[in-house]
Amino acid sequence: MNDSPQQSGSKPVMGWFLFLLTVAAVFGLGMLFASIMERRDEARVRRPMAEINKFETDSSKWAENWPRQHASYREMDDDKTMTKYGGAVPRDYLSETTANVILFAGYGFSKDYLQARGHTYAVEDVTETGRNNGKLPATCWSCKSPDVPRLMAEFGAKKVENPEDKSLQELALKGAGEFYSHKWNDFTEEITHAIGCLDCHDPDTMKLRVSRPALIEAFERQGKDVNKVSHQEMRTLVCAQCHVEYYFKGDGKYLTFPWDGGTTPEAMEEYYNERDFKDWTHAISKTPMIKMQHPDYEVYSTGVHAFRGVSCADCHMPYRTEGGAKYSDHHLQSPLLNIANSCAVCHRWSEEETRSRVTAIQDKNAEGRARAERAIAYAHFDIAACMQAGATDEQLKSIRSLVRTAQMNWDYVAANNGMGFHSPQECLRVLAKAVEKAQEARVEATRLLATYGYTKPVVYPDFSTKEKAQALNQAFISGNAPDLLGGFKVSKAALN
Ligand code: HEC
Ligand code: HEC
Ligand code: HEC
Ligand code: HEC
Repeated sequence: MNDSPQQSGSKPVMGWFLFLLTVAAVFGLGMLFASIMERRDEARVRRPMAEINKFETDSSKWAENWPRQHASYREMDDDKTMTKYGGAVPRDYLSETTANVILFAGYGFSKDYLQARGHTYAVEDVTETGRNNGKLPATCWSCKSPDVPRLMAEFGAKKVENPEDKSLQELALKGAGEFYSHKWNDFTEEITHAIGCLDCHDPDTMKLRVSRPALIEAFERQGKDVNKVSHQEMRTLVCAQCHVEYYFKGDGKYLTFPWDGGTTPEAMEEYYNERDFKDWTHAISKTPMIKMQHPDYEVYSTGVHAFRGVSCADCHMPYRTEGGAKYSDHHLQSPLLNIANSCAVCHRWSEEETRSRVTAIQDKNAEGRARAERAIAYAHFDIAACMQAGATDEQLKSIRSLVRTAQMNWDYVAANNGMGFHSPQECLRVLAKAVEKAQEARVEATRLLATYGYTKPVVYPDFSTKEKAQALNQAFISGNAPDLLGGFKVSKAALN
């Protein structure tokens, strides 16, 4: 240590010099940083904005202002991604789960049922699916294209004064009924753009906005205003325009969400039962059936993430950074393909832990699903066996009603995306109900068969491949059903 007087005398001067130098350096760096930020902001924000028409359905026109969002959106053209239960590969559900063919006997879903891919395929896929016979109502276009709200708004514009002052949403609400009452084929030239920017954004402000009347009206009937929700809820509601259960109401085929009593399967079943609604009559059991579509929003709403305010966009559109710019990833896909950005923001688990936690949840759900599937498929055959023994519609009424409930509940889980992940407990509760109802139906059917003197097991046909199962459906439809009673003839006494 050296504390000689000379040196200690020169210290304050030196100190002040260093201090001022540091201040100058920090100031200079600050200026430089500010200038970089400003230039980056200029590049991002102050670039002259291209004017985007309020009905612009071509997403590539929006790209000029928002190149990053658009480029990530185009990544949905990749349909090769695959996870254990998800991804964008159009896997064939009917080959993977042949009981599906039996459950949908007599309905389009028994002919063609593929896994969904990215939004950019929506128009192509709805046009080419084996379920589209060209005779569909225009309503089937509803969740495939921004040309839908555009057309609705064009119809609506003819019905109001000063349409140029009205928003796309206001005009679409006025013109929706006219849109739905058209046929599919009326719009094959008009509807060309797959789901895009206009579906979720107002081009003037880029704010999120609901463009689809069905969601606005479903909220209204529950006394809620879709335009008055929080920003965080909006990050879910833009998805709930399409990822929901719906049906076509009345002869006008008006797209409607069956949520008047709530979004649980119980509330929706009651809604449909009150209206005596059916999607189709089952080809094997002649049961009036309900097809659940993809109740993703409904199922999600019952889960822990919704409870804690985590939105669809938090997991499916996480932030992405590129050259210092932060933006929402518009490549909507399985979050398991992007765990670092989607889950790890909130969960400090390794990627491997996260993936195995998710698949563990999904495996359990898949097992519950398979159990329900088999029980319901057998229940349809049990009813058909009763019919072969001579049972009447009156005798079968309560049994069919049980199968209708069982399958609707199974489908609430099966048709919802994510293999149970969005709400594991609720999905297993609903599957448990499906199994119970299907088994009740089978017990009642067995009792009914006994009253006709048949006490042996029903002779179930082989539906172990998609082809066998489809041929079986065809046999029931054309009146050449296999003998499910193994040659048993009902005695005259039993019939009396
Ligand atoms: C907590 C995160 C999280 C939230 C919130 C969330 N999801 Fe998911 N989602 C997932 C995971 C995980 C999967 C399973 C992906 C897989 O199996 O590959 C999934 C699967 C999906 C799939 C199927 C994707 C595929 O590739 O199979 C769709 C569609 C979907 N979610 C839509 C939604 C919608 C709509 C909402 C909001 C109503 C939502 N999700 C909310 C995490 C989330
Ligand atoms: C399915 C709905 C949906 C579609 C389609 C969609 N976006 Fe978005 N977009 C969102 C959501 C959700 C956010 C997050 C908004 C927020 O939290 O404020 C967002 C945010 C944005 C933002 C704000 C900055 C950012 O990145 O967070 C811009 C700009 C944007 N989107 C541009 C586009 C463009 C351009 C297209 C068409 C190529 C498009 N979006 C298509 C849902 C959508
Ligand atoms: C205008 C209707 C519409 C809106 C709005 C919409 N979707 Fe979709 N979504 C679809 C359709 C239709 C498909 C299936 C497309 C196909 O298979 O051709 C789909 C497919 C998907 C897939 C499957 C992609 C894959 O790789 O597995 C995910 C994930 C998804 N949507 C999530 C969301 C989320 C999250 C939102 C909200 C931010 C949203 N969607 C908003 C209609 C919509
Ligand atoms: C915005 C924050 C957020 C994001 C993003 C998020 N989570 Fe969560 N997650 C939560 C919260 C909050 C809970 C509730 C438990 C808690 O409070 O710790 C939770 C709970 C869970 C649980 C336990 C569920 C249960 O019922 O016990 C799992 C598993 C999970 N998350 C998986 C995921 C996966 C996988 C992803 C990505 C696809 C994801 N989370 C994304 C916030 C998030």
